[in-house]
Amino acid sequence: MIIVETIDYRRGAVRIIDQSALPAVERYLDLGDVDALAGAIRTMKIRGAPAIGIAAAYGVLLALERALGGDRYAFDHGEPGRPVPIPEGTDARSLERAALEAIDLLGRTRPTAVNLFWALDRMRRAISGAGEDAAALCEAASAEAFALHDGELELERRIGEHGAALIKDGARILTHCNAGGLATAGYGTALAVIYAARGQGKDVQVFADETRPLLQGARLTAWELRRAGIPVTLLCDGAAASLIASGRIDAVITGADRVAANGDSANKIGTLGLAVSCARSGVPFYIAAPWSSIDMATPDGSMIPIEERDPLEVTRIQGVDIAPQGVSVYNPAFDVTPAELITALVTETGVIRRPDEGSLAEAARRAGCSPSRKPPRNP
Ligand code: MRU
Repeated sequence: MIIVETIDYRRGAVRIIDQSALPAVERYLDLGDVDALAGAIRTMKIRGAPAIGIAAAYGVLLALERALGGDRYAFDHGEPGRPVPIPEGTDARSLERAALEAIDLLGRTRPTAVNLFWALDRMRRAISGAGEDAAALCEAASAEAFALHDGELELERRIGEHGAALIKDGARILTHCNAGGLATAGYGTALAVIYAARGQGKDVQVFADETRPLLQGARLTAWELRRAGIPVTLLCDGAAASLIASGRIDAVITGADRVAANGDSANKIGTLGLAVSCARSGVPFYIAAPWSSIDMATPDGSMIPIEERDPLEVTRIQGVDIAPQGVSVYNPAFDVTPAELITALVTETGVIRRPDEGSLAEAARRAGCSPSRKPPRNP
């Protein structure tokens, strides 16, 4: 079911596909310490809300590897039950301190995707229950990180299944940014719906916005869909509104970085414009996202922190200046689509039509999510 080997934890290092190099170069990086991993998140070598969450959980394991300081690696996702080599005299408190420092560092890498804080919260809880026993702390941390990773993959499959029911045979679907295997544990959220519909034998054509400034649609979505053998047509972001208005799109599906308790959803900059165009033309606008992207502690979209990124992302493409030096730049990485423009939210527990405060709280209750859940810290 995996479309791309996006991330894994192997023999004491986090292995990621370097998304900043795709599609020209397909290379994997082995990150052996938490600073390197935090740098990879900041520079978007690893990106996409669920993938950032998995990376953060694995960052805590890297910090424990370093604090253990032995001559053998401690953790490997390929051997989850392997006993951790604990050097003589290892003190559980120093391990805990190293893990908490890593959680603090990783929590300051990117502000918008709530999966980052959700994953760090899970890791914090896992280690805090271990008491004075170094081996128990390591086992709890690795079990939690591997369970989080494995669980994401399974729920992406379920998102795909629920979402595929919304897709008719012959559908022409527009998507934005990359919400596929590269952004997740390997299957996707918005693209999981497309993979599942194709798996059911439906003919689906995909239109992918290029997604300026960092071109996740052109570089990543087009790459992974072509690799999966799914027909994809690339368009400039500015061409999307007229394509939707022309009647040649049956549905728009995107992922989300954070869904607030009232259904307002933050996703890659440009998503709001698509939702507005869909409303104008009567085209369904769907968001596919796991519960780990839904933040019941944030009441509405105005409270979602929106990352502003380096102006150079706008003024320079692949090292070449495309704007006059010194021009002022507006470069938010995300925008917020109000819930009223969202036809349905597809989660691993089902489809929430017309998401709002009431329908989300009810779905959260049925899914067993506590509405008081809080991300540990927003930078
Ligand atoms: O800045 P990015 O590339 O990390 O932004 C990613 C997106 O906006 C995705 O659409 C979102 O994370 C959903 S991924 C399943």
